[in-house]
Amino acid sequence: METRPEVCIAIVGYGGMGKAHAYGYRIAPLIRTLPCRPRVVVITGRHAKAVEHAAHAYDIPAWSTDWRAAIERDDVDVVDVCTPPGAHVEVVVAAARAGKAVLCEKPLAASYAEGRRALAAVREAGVLSAIGFNYRRLPAIALLKQLIDDGAVGEVRLWRARWLTDEFADPATPFDWRFDRGLGGTTIADLGAHLIDLAEWMVGEIAEVLAQSATFIPERPDPGGGPARRVTVDDASSALVRFASGAQGTFELARSCIRRPCDMALEVNGTRGTLFFDYARLNELWFGAADDDPRLYGLRRIRAEHPRHPYAAQWWPLGQGVGWGSSFVNQVCDLLECWPEGPWEPSLAVGLRVQAVCEAMERSAAERRWVTLAEVERAAQHSE
Ligand SMILES: NC(=O)c1ccc[n+]([C@@H]2O[C@H](COP(=O)([O-])OP(=O)(O)OC[C@H]3O[C@@H](n4cnc5c(N)ncnc54)[C@H](O)[C@@H]3O)[C@@H](O)[C@H]2O)c1
Repeated sequence: METRPEVCIAIVGYGGMGKAHAYGYRIAPLIRTLPCRPRVVVITGRHAKAVEHAAHAYDIPAWSTDWRAAIERDDVDVVDVCTPPGAHVEVVVAAARAGKAVLCEKPLAASYAEGRRALAAVREAGVLSAIGFNYRRLPAIALLKQLIDDGAVGEVRLWRARWLTDEFADPATPFDWRFDRGLGGTTIADLGAHLIDLAEWMVGEIAEVLAQSATFIPERPDPGGGPARRVTVDDASSALVRFASGAQGTFELARSCIRRPCDMALEVNGTRGTLFFDYARLNELWFGAADDDPRLYGLRRIRAEHPRHPYAAQWWPLGQGVGWGSSFVNQVCDLLECWPEGPWEPSLAVGLRVQAVCEAMERSAAERRWVTLAEVERAAQHSE
């Protein structure tokens, strides 16, 4: 007889991430033996027809256009926030006040000040909370982190991260929240948040940044056929960073690169070795060490699918690999494995750190100067 308790989830937002998270809850019990059984009980959105369609497609028994009523349901244990960034904090705060655990998609908010409100609310309510940095949970990226922690590259000197896509390259792409600064749709926060998280997770806190941004297409067609809408976000940004450890790094983030679908790459150079990850081959990691036999000079390709590698044993036989969707399944497994005690990682505090770095990059690009993280934190404290 099944004795494990059910954990009931309300998903707020039925778009790309609502679908990815619904997939995560459904597949998780197939991949890991959990102490509880996840069940998505309701999904919400603003447009009745569309959210109803999504509920049927994702096999969720109830849907609503009233997210407040949905998250306050007595049977809901976890609120999973999958709306645009500018609509995250209101939901996180309401969920925390209703005593629900919260999983919030990245970035935490549209601004650092707003993000502070979200963190304060979950702390005050004492509820579990996590931010959706799912890329941490791909086997090769988790292995990259593990190898750095094990000292495989020695002391980290340089970090390099880039993420190139072509989703904004076509001027005919209509306006939506991704072009709207008020809803937090910046390229810095969209692509950068994941990379900043990975950088701080692997190398430690970023202390200061020097950034530049560009908006190549200043207007977009209005989806409702009205006058063209003004774009208020960056199409591309790049930054130099200095970590508190003394390591240096670079970020390049762009949604305007023709024929680049989702080309993310990470590289770490340390005193004794190099690690390189290329998302197009997401089950692989490249590694070379100074003390390798000189006849093996270069980087070797590790297949991050061995049962000894993080997450890999739970998935498919060697050589079959995993994909992006697996990171959402692994996210559910990691969070629910320690239900209801926690702790959940990465926490909203991590999300807020990342938000501070995003804000430092925006300020640096606007003012054409180095900006410290301490400055961003001080400014937020003064304005409260
Ligand atoms: N972890 C990842 O890999 C990943 C990938 C893509 C997006 N995201 C993040 O997930 C979140 C949602 O992105 P998405 O791609 O699912 O977006 P989407 O546009 O596909 O879906 C957004 C959902 O929010 C609703 N919505 C749209 N505008 C709204 C508004 N102004 N107020 C309230 N609700 C609104 C929509 O109706 C829809 O249900 C964002 O924070 C985004 O940055 C994460």
